Amino acid sequence: MDWSERLGGLCYGGDYNPEQWPEDVWKEDVELMRRAGVNLVSVGVFSWARLEPAPGVHDLGWLDRVLDLLHDGGIRVNLATPTASPPPWFGLAHPDALTVTHDGTRLTHGSRDTYCVHSPAYLAACAGIARTLAERYRDHPALAMWHVHNEYGTTCHCDHAADAFRTWLRARHGTLEALNDAWTTSFWSQHYSAWEQITTPRATQYLPNPSQALDFRRFVSDAMLDHFREQKAVLRELTPDIPITTNFVLGDWVPVNHRHWAAEVDLVAIDHYPSTDPPAETAFAADLARGWATGKPWLLMEQAVVTYTGPRMRAKHPGEITRLSLSHIARGSRGAMFFQWRASRGGAELWHGGMVPHAGPDSRIFREICDLGALLPTLEDACAAPVEAGAAILWDAEANWALQAPGLPSTELNYTEAVRQAHRVLYRHGVTADVVHPSADLSAYPLVLVPSLYLISDADADNLRRYVSGGGTLVVSYLSGIADEHARVRLGGYPGALRDLLGIRVEEFHPLPPDVALTLSAPDVLAPRSTSPRAEIPARPPTDEATFSDETTFPGDRPETGTFWSEHVHLEGAEALAVYTGPHTLATPLSGQPAITRHPYGSGTALYISTRLTDDAYARLLGLSPTPVELVRRGDWLFAINHGDEEHEPGDLLLPPGGFAVRPHVERE
Ligand code: GAL
Repeated sequence: MDWSERLGGLCYGGDYNPEQWPEDVWKEDVELMRRAGVNLVSVGVFSWARLEPAPGVHDLGWLDRVLDLLHDGGIRVNLATPTASPPPWFGLAHPDALTVTHDGTRLTHGSRDTYCVHSPAYLAACAGIARTLAERYRDHPALAMWHVHNEYGTTCHCDHAADAFRTWLRARHGTLEALNDAWTTSFWSQHYSAWEQITTPRATQYLPNPSQALDFRRFVSDAMLDHFREQKAVLRELTPDIPITTNFVLGDWVPVNHRHWAAEVDLVAIDHYPSTDPPAETAFAADLARGWATGKPWLLMEQAVVTYTGPRMRAKHPGEITRLSLSHIARGSRGAMFFQWRASRGGAELWHGGMVPHAGPDSRIFREICDLGALLPTLEDACAAPVEAGAAILWDAEANWALQAPGLPSTELNYTEAVRQAHRVLYRHGVTADVVHPSADLSAYPLVLVPSLYLISDADADNLRRYVSGGGTLVVSYLSGIADEHARVRLGGYPGALRDLLGIRVEEFHPLPPDVALTLSAPDVLAPRSTSPRAEIPARPPTDEATFSDETTFPGDRPETGTFWSEHVHLEGAEALAVYTGPHTLATPLSGQPAITRHPYGSGTALYISTRLTDDAYARLLGLSPTPVELVRRGDWLFAINHGDEEHEPGDLLLPPGGFAVRPHVERE
């Protein structure tokens, strides 16, 4: 069932926290929501202490009045279960339900997200409050969707967690022998002779076991999903026709495998708070969400009217809220929602902005909110067809977790940044990318990018082989295919799982210091390998005229550089598209060795990039030319968004600085 259809048109609104305001403000809220075109609000996300001021004592009268007021104003409600912030009395009554950090500190109430999803008392309380709300509001006409919890992400190391972890491990590994083997516990005398000896990866003396850490992340994701499922079961039983979701939070710290969760929510919903490069970050987040939703509609549940970049807040530029909302919608969101409706006057997030800012409705922000609210209903036709993607980028949460282990060959490895670079390159060159898991059906994509996919299963490696042999073009970058599903290195040469597909064997890694850049150039300087380092110096310097077979344009009209990482690559069936050419020093011994390779495989081609290229070089390798505006196609419709300060004319459109157009397009380039 497509649950998003139950929501009708594009959703517009945000978190509405009336419990923060005296009742006389609520009426004005609804009037302003109507003025802004708001049609959906998320209510009660953090209202547990107000709903249940003392154990078993419920006060729902205020929420009745809020829902009635909203309904009278024609505004639907995405009603939250408030379980992300249990009241102080709860933690005091059940200290074993408070989070324990990995160093054994039991946290205290006083913020939010201080709970343990393994605690029986907490689980029972959550199911209880969800039931109370569902029983009360099951027939309320304003109820449009359930918003379970908020941004799942709390990790706990208490004894309940350790018990649950052991149960999960038994199910995953079956026997202790299998676990010991998977975790390589023969190293450092970590061998377990009884299940009871195993704990969560709590603070320990030196480097923790990477396979244990990876299994723990998997376990936390599954355990929180069980918590979601328990509430979902209660809500589904009492309100079978109401969609149920939760808001996914993005970030490397998040112990949630959203791909697994996406199958459990009726509508994928994400929160998105870009920081340094909002347009590119927005496109990436939206393409990720669409990947989790497997192409179906999803919803931008939260964004802010301000941007937090490092040390300071910045007001969104004029029109920026509209452009970023439009970018999400172009890429498949069923609307644009915010945190929060009215900026708080106190509390921890009093500077996080609101659709109604501290200045009130007579403000630039609220005027833009009203304009956006008027624009959204005009976009329905443009959103009817699926988003058209010209490429796929592979993303796997487990690979990300594995690459966060300490003790890797560089502490600077950053999987997300590698994936973001690949996405940014396509984005800046007008190619919409689906961000999908390595197990996805790739056959429809002409191009698939595989950035630094450190961990890959045998089955997923086979999937890549199938894709290329069926005619696809696969571009794999450094440090891919290294580890198996237990984070153990695949032996015999890197990139283990992908060696035959890429036609190469990598003998050694050479991570580069920040001040070192290697030059890359044409393959005809590739010297035969010799024992004398001098003999490896290329016979002649790189030329500007270097050309390659087929249409490969790399390295274009100038020598390219590789930074951050390099590898000693041997050709085993592949040809070199570019080689390392310098500097010729003992510390950079790769001169003359392949840097970028190409391997015909079945009917397709697999390329390998053994270093970090600049964005421009990456684009040249892919044969792309820049597009100054964001372009997304959906069937006969084109979304064009100019995020920059200059006027641009894509095709027959004229986009002023900050301008956008959503219109039918008939011709294709
Ligand atoms: C989100 C969260 C909201 C609010 C917001 C602040 O991550 O879900 O409750 O904290 O950040 O910008």
